Amino acid sequence: MKRLFLFFILLLLCPWMLRAQGDSLIRIGTPRTDLILRLSPEGKLCQAYLGPRLANEADLKQLPAGKEVYYAYGSKDYFEPAVRVTHADGHPGMQLDYVSHEVRPQSDPNVTLTVVTLRDKVYPVEVKLFYETFARENVLKMWTEISHREKKPIVLHEGASALLHLSSRAYYLSAFTGQWGGEAMMNEQKLLPGKKVLDTRLGARAAMYCSPLFMLGVGAPASENTGEVLLGTLNWTGNFRFLFEMDSRHDLRLIAGINPYASEYHLPSGEVFRTPEFVCTMSDRGTGQASRDLHDWARNYQLKDGHGDRLTLLNNWESTGFDFNADTLKTYIRKSADLGVDMFLLDDGWFANKYPRKNDKQGLGDWEPTHAKLPHGVQELVAEAGRAGVKFGIWIEPEMVSMRSELYEKHPDWVIRFPDREPYFYRNQLVLDLCNPAVQDYVFGVVDRLLSENPSLAYFKWDCNSPITNPMSPYLKDKQSHLYIDYVRGLYNVLERIKQKYPDVPMMLCSGGGGRCDYGALQYFTEFWASDNTGPVERIFIQWGFSQFFPAKSVGAHVTSWGKQSLKFRTDVAMTGKLGFDIDVNKLTDAEIAFCRQAVGNFKRLAPVTLEGDLYRLVSPYEGQHAALMYVDKAVDKAVLFTYDLYPRRGAEWIFPVRLAGLDPAKMYRVEEINLEPGVDVVAWKENGGVFSGDYLMKVGLNVLTERCENSRVIEITAQ
Ligand code: DGJ
Repeated sequence: MKRLFLFFILLLLCPWMLRAQGDSLIRIGTPRTDLILRLSPEGKLCQAYLGPRLANEADLKQLPAGKEVYYAYGSKDYFEPAVRVTHADGHPGMQLDYVSHEVRPQSDPNVTLTVVTLRDKVYPVEVKLFYETFARENVLKMWTEISHREKKPIVLHEGASALLHLSSRAYYLSAFTGQWGGEAMMNEQKLLPGKKVLDTRLGARAAMYCSPLFMLGVGAPASENTGEVLLGTLNWTGNFRFLFEMDSRHDLRLIAGINPYASEYHLPSGEVFRTPEFVCTMSDRGTGQASRDLHDWARNYQLKDGHGDRLTLLNNWESTGFDFNADTLKTYIRKSADLGVDMFLLDDGWFANKYPRKNDKQGLGDWEPTHAKLPHGVQELVAEAGRAGVKFGIWIEPEMVSMRSELYEKHPDWVIRFPDREPYFYRNQLVLDLCNPAVQDYVFGVVDRLLSENPSLAYFKWDCNSPITNPMSPYLKDKQSHLYIDYVRGLYNVLERIKQKYPDVPMMLCSGGGGRCDYGALQYFTEFWASDNTGPVERIFIQWGFSQFFPAKSVGAHVTSWGKQSLKFRTDVAMTGKLGFDIDVNKLTDAEIAFCRQAVGNFKRLAPVTLEGDLYRLVSPYEGQHAALMYVDKAVDKAVLFTYDLYPRRGAEWIFPVRLAGLDPAKMYRVEEINLEPGVDVVAWKENGGVFSGDYLMKVGLNVLTERCENSRVIEITAQ
């Protein structure tokens, strides 16, 4: 019996090695999407189709031959290659032939991994293409492994994670560009023959100007509920590149991967170069469906503690900056309890003694509490939090160093900079050389020491305010072109060690606002800080952009004093992400504290809906006057609707009923306005307390919009 069992286990684990014959097909896909590869009679593996799943197996044979799945420089091709190497003897060319493919069974029946092996006929260079599909979520993950057996290292000039071909009459590309305070602004353009590149060269804080995200409307501009659209992102916390090249026949080639900019990699024989994963989903029902699929995938597979709770918090950065002491913080800790949040988060400015961190010009690297500010260290604050019944979290920026720091004085060789030039700075700081294992140990040690000294520390905000400046690594010596890649690998080494040792400590990814927002990092972080711009109107746009890819529970959103809008408006905006406060609590009246407390209660009560449910974007702020979105729980019993009147023009024609989405048409739902400020003049909502069918709510809608500038509503919707 035992033997029989073992035999079946072995059978399950044994990969299915297959060798396709000329003209045979490899079908990679989900119940909703097909990626069909075909072996040409010449032994080249080509992509025959990418799009909505084809219903009839028999039709697959009719598909056109297609183009090579992974063009190498040196192939018969006149466009951008996916891979380019210089062989050990200086030969620059490569031509990749199909060798075999295998379907590797996974323990999770929802996941299928197909691995295709390609090889050069002349040189011992091998390329393995990995295609991992997530059936339920309709997500495809692709990456590549490049290796060789030449006598000396080869130079890998570029090696894409994925190359995909599309064939349509037109393509509309939406990018998510920005800057500090204005992240993830969505802008769409029609692609024309030629190339369009979305990329970054910033190394760390890599997504400051362009997030590693794109949406591609196929045939027509991407819209919320209709049309074919491909959403793509790269799991990489460094330089990325998405290249779109359209030929004069309107065929489009999409190449996604590490940005090859200044990054030739010297690959020794036997070493495997694994590219980051390119993650995409294709929807034929618009971007809304694609976002919901990605959110599910992220919660199920990628985001740290994807289904876990999130901590609401009070942060002190916006109100105190660097100017605080232990007493100030103790007040904040007690006020956290008054607000009803789970945690107090101490931000920048608590560390360094020789060069105390009293401003952003010094102290980074010296992670000892400043005696003058915190004479009894962090321990005293953690203890105070314990007494107040809240948790305690802390800000760090361990990848960085100030020149005015003891760390710099002790280890000038740990810093990325040119040895022979005056350094230039971004926010007065330099980046530590994470290519160096000793530096990795040190960075890990920052977290490890804080947690060993304060075992009940509950949370880290991990900041990264500078791109890589003065790009030269003392550690890499004559391999400077490895810097951008090895930096990220070094960072992942550290984060992996932290995750292994402290798997349950939640962490916020922050990068001078949302300068890092990628699923590579988010396997180590429970959320990211979307922007320092917490002005609620701007935040509606920023969060709208990030919501295309990231579920609400991963998008940090705080109520602050930015903007002149009411506390309710600011709170109603922050409640669509992971709610927190970063406000001068001493200036809040009792009534305001009571309002916040009530909002925190509502947020926690509705967390299964907003944080775990499905997002429906109903009215886009990009249309100008209003915005509306809602979340529906998976049982379709509970929903919450958020509406915002931004700058409505006068006149009834600008007010329209908001049609809901995602409800069960057959169920009856009670609608009720929540988050109301007692005693504050509100525009009365006549439908409040009414019971409507899901059908009615989705076809007729609710009259929730108003003509009032910067007015908001939160409506709880409950099945009866
Ligand atoms: C940039 C972050 O985005 C802010 O929230 C804050 O933590 C500062 N850094 C602190 O220096």
